[in-house]
Amino acid sequence: MFYSDDVVEEVRARNDIVDVISGYVKLQRKGSSYFGLCPFHNEKSPSFSVSPGKQMYYCFGCGAGGNVFTFIMEYENYTFPEALKMLADRAGVALPEQEYSEEAKKQRDLKSAVLDINRMAAKYYYYVLRSPQGARGMQYLKGRQLSEETMQKFGLGYAGQYSDALYRYLKKKGISDQLLKESGLMQVNEKNGMYDKFWNRVMFPIMDVNNKVIGFGGRVMGDAKPKYLNSPETVIFDKSRNLYGLNFARTAKKPYILVCEGYMDVISMHQAGFTNAVASLGTALTSQHASLLKRYTEEVILTYDSDDAGVRAALRAIPLLKAAGISTRVLHMEPYKDPDEFIQALGTDAFQERIDRAENSFLFELSVMQRSYDMKDPDAKTRFFQAVAAKIADFELEIERENYIEAVTGRFGVSFEGMRRMVMNVLMQGVPVRKTPVRRQERPEKEDGIKKSQRLLLTWLTEYPKLFVTVSQYVHPEDFSDELYRKVASMLYEQLQRGELNPARITSRFTDPQQQRTVAQLFNTEVPVESPKEQEKAIAETIKKVMKYGIEQRTAQLDPTDIAGLQKLVDAKKRLQELGGLHISL
Ligand code: UTP
Ligand code: MN
Repeated sequence: MFYSDDVVEEVRARNDIVDVISGYVKLQRKGSSYFGLCPFHNEKSPSFSVSPGKQMYYCFGCGAGGNVFTFIMEYENYTFPEALKMLADRAGVALPEQEYSEEAKKQRDLKSAVLDINRMAAKYYYYVLRSPQGARGMQYLKGRQLSEETMQKFGLGYAGQYSDALYRYLKKKGISDQLLKESGLMQVNEKNGMYDKFWNRVMFPIMDVNNKVIGFGGRVMGDAKPKYLNSPETVIFDKSRNLYGLNFARTAKKPYILVCEGYMDVISMHQAGFTNAVASLGTALTSQHASLLKRYTEEVILTYDSDDAGVRAALRAIPLLKAAGISTRVLHMEPYKDPDEFIQALGTDAFQERIDRAENSFLFELSVMQRSYDMKDPDAKTRFFQAVAAKIADFELEIERENYIEAVTGRFGVSFEGMRRMVMNVLMQGVPVRKTPVRRQERPEKEDGIKKSQRLLLTWLTEYPKLFVTVSQYVHPEDFSDELYRKVASMLYEQLQRGELNPARITSRFTDPQQQRTVAQLFNTEVPVESPKEQEKAIAETIKKVMKYGIEQRTAQLDPTDIAGLQKLVDAKKRLQELGGLHISL
């Protein structure tokens, strides 16, 4: 859904950033800004700043930053439209209704009707579990050591002994058979007509990240088969895109998410305080799951069952997670089968210890690989090390390869030099020659220097808007070195030309939190200066540096037939020379 810049700006302007963030972080005034402990990383002294003037926040510790939208997106793990909606509600701004096509409107109505039915069913099962009819279910769940509080948190329920109890309940509420069919909660056959999918089972409602019930898992209370029945895919339930427990895990504020196999594992872990646990819904992890996880975390710890199936599942999940940019570790549960059993047997501290010792996924893959080689046989052992070298050679960066060579040396008792040579051999075989890492490492440093100067210049422009008159004579938005910098610079120039200054508004022109963070950095760069004199000198130097770099860049890219461009460059160079004695006064 697209909202116009004006709507976005209205919502932003009506949500004062200090107000909003105060609801999450304890802030204290210090000069013209507020400071507090950063909610995005662990720290003991406050480096998280909120500027009422700029209506932006920035953490000098971890670089998190942005405007009020960014904060809500990062803290609540919302997408931009979700954050916009929440802040619009908070400030009482009515968002324009989205225009739907007839077809899209029907689909939306169907979805919301099916969501309603699932919510009603969840309430019904929840109520039955706590009524006399639910005694057997209650006894079962208590037998599995679940507390009242846990059952409530996960909305656990019970489907009683009659196979049409829910059907009758929903009919009484006036739901049509047509909709019931779409809900995933009913079955139809010729002999019996429509009847409940679930009965005689304890019920686990499955919620999406917004706490909406989208389906159910139902477990038998004994050894009958199938152990779990699940809602089929419906208009609202897509197993490959949802993870059980993610609605809670997404705000757990831990640097990693625990991914396990089962409903009971998730619940046990949450009950033990590991509120960052999720499970896929009786299916293997998919690439969609991986990108969903990536929205919330950089690291996953796999807590799959310790049997062969669990190991296979882990081996399949690791590359998918890697492709999504997530690094993975693998937790060893032995001698227990799954997290639920482990925690019942050894408790929370022991589980935490296993988390801390979880194995790097690459080394896990190697250990599994090793099982198919007879390490007592010298030839087999050599083949194993060759296979290891081939895998290490897949890493792109030399430093990564060296780190893994070192790790392998420690783990499998092979010499560092020996392994390094094997890896080199593999790399040499792979013609054409791989990208040389030298260039890649040299460039960023120089670029970082100039980029920092560019950021300083933009920061200073927001702090001393009077500078604009001088700066704009020498430095133009196209002098900035990358696309995002150029865009931000030209928006800021536009504002300053109109005599307006609103960096927070510029920030909301970008909807990706990563970009918003960069924008925040552009407006919050600092260098230590001792006195106003020194500050003025620093500004003059920075203007010269950014201008000089812009000229160099444009010279390098100049089309030799572009006479007008050439003339402009010659003029710019002249002005740069005259700039020797530029004096800035604040
Ligand atoms: P498990 O058999 O490991 O179940 O299946 P569990 O979660 O440990 O449950 P308890 O402790 O025995 O009660 C793992 C997951 O696979 C799916 C479910 O999502 C389950 O949580 N599954 C399993 C099914 O969908 N159907 C089944 O018949 C079995
Ligand atoms: Mn299990």
